Amino acid sequence: MIPIARPLLGDEEADAVREVLASGALAQGARVKAFEEAFAAYVGRRHGVAVCNGTAALHVALLAHGLHAGQEVLIPPLTFFASASTVLLCGARPGFVDVDPAHYTMDPAKLGAGMTRKTAAIMPVHLYGQTADMDPLLEAARARDVRVVEDACQAHGAAYRGRKAGALGDSACFSFYPTKNMTTGEGGILVTDDDEVAASARLLRDHGQTSKYEHAVVGFNLRMTEIAAAIGLVQLKKLDGWVARRRQNARFLTKALDGLEGLVPPSEGPGRTHSFYQYVVRAEPGFPLTRDEIVQTLADEGIGCRPSYPMPLYKQKALRDRKVFGRCPVAEQVVGRLFEIPVHPGLTSEDLDRIAEALDRLGRPS
Ligand SMILES: Cc1ncc(COP(=O)(O)O)c(C=O)c1O
Repeated sequence: MIPIARPLLGDEEADAVREVLASGALAQGARVKAFEEAFAAYVGRRHGVAVCNGTAALHVALLAHGLHAGQEVLIPPLTFFASASTVLLCGARPGFVDVDPAHYTMDPAKLGAGMTRKTAAIMPVHLYGQTADMDPLLEAARARDVRVVEDACQAHGAAYRGRKAGALGDSACFSFYPTKNMTTGEGGILVTDDDEVAASARLLRDHGQTSKYEHAVVGFNLRMTEIAAAIGLVQLKKLDGWVARRRQNARFLTKALDGLEGLVPPSEGPGRTHSFYQYVVRAEPGFPLTRDEIVQTLADEGIGCRPSYPMPLYKQKALRDRKVFGRCPVAEQVVGRLFEIPVHPGLTSEDLDRIAEALDRLGRPS
């Protein structure tokens, strides 16, 4: 089976972890600080606050920006559950802004209609490794004095008009889950230029402690370990090379899809550098196989292929039970047609040829 994702971990990561183990200092310390500084510098931000996963980064970011009950955060409907759950965990409510049909990210043309007097923040998601169209989103948010938190959990190494994903809004959050463009095992980070947000996030991730056993606010324990940070420091050095490989693999796959009418490859929006966390194909209604038949056929051929999200987020039971609703016709139309095929940098040229041949067979009537 060619896996849909595979973390690339080698001797360098193993040596870095061994060094931490030998030191006996396992909890947040010097390596976490070094990783925060290195990652923030990579993105082009003044502060990095490392935490134990991407969900924690989003949660802490929203709290550090002062989100609370009675307020609303606008998010897109095509995303991972944490985009909505973290809003609810702050006591605020998620509202949904539909996606644009070409790139599946928050549609700036729909943002204005989604804003209410309760809207305190927007959280665009840089989906599948491509940033949302940030300039018009930022303009609309600034006009209403609304905060912008980028959910960049899928977009390490992506860029928008020459700036890195994560350097576009007021703050941004990344995940280092093992399937991501780089990993720390589990991990996350919040990056920002805002001194107050960074200071508040540092308190919230560590019991609100200002010094040992001195607690200024009620916080959590969301700290990153030294082991995770040591892996992250090694992985960060390799990120740009891996993203270049992902882009090269994506070009190959797009060429393989050329001529297969009814299978639409991902497209890169103007000014955007896609980092191809996922390579997502859309099956049009005219294609002889449904999305689920395609996924089954490719899986039978040993290609790790899977549907993308099963439904717009607001249809999840956990959200309906809390009376969170949405109506996003574009997301509803495309969600059942999207599927992911392997694009990761661990693919060999034989793997890529096998995928191309399997795609080609899909388009040939049996
Ligand atoms: C868009 C998005 N937001 C948030 C998260 C949460 O990150 P984590 O799994 O590290 O908690 C993820 C990760 O899967 C994600 O893809």
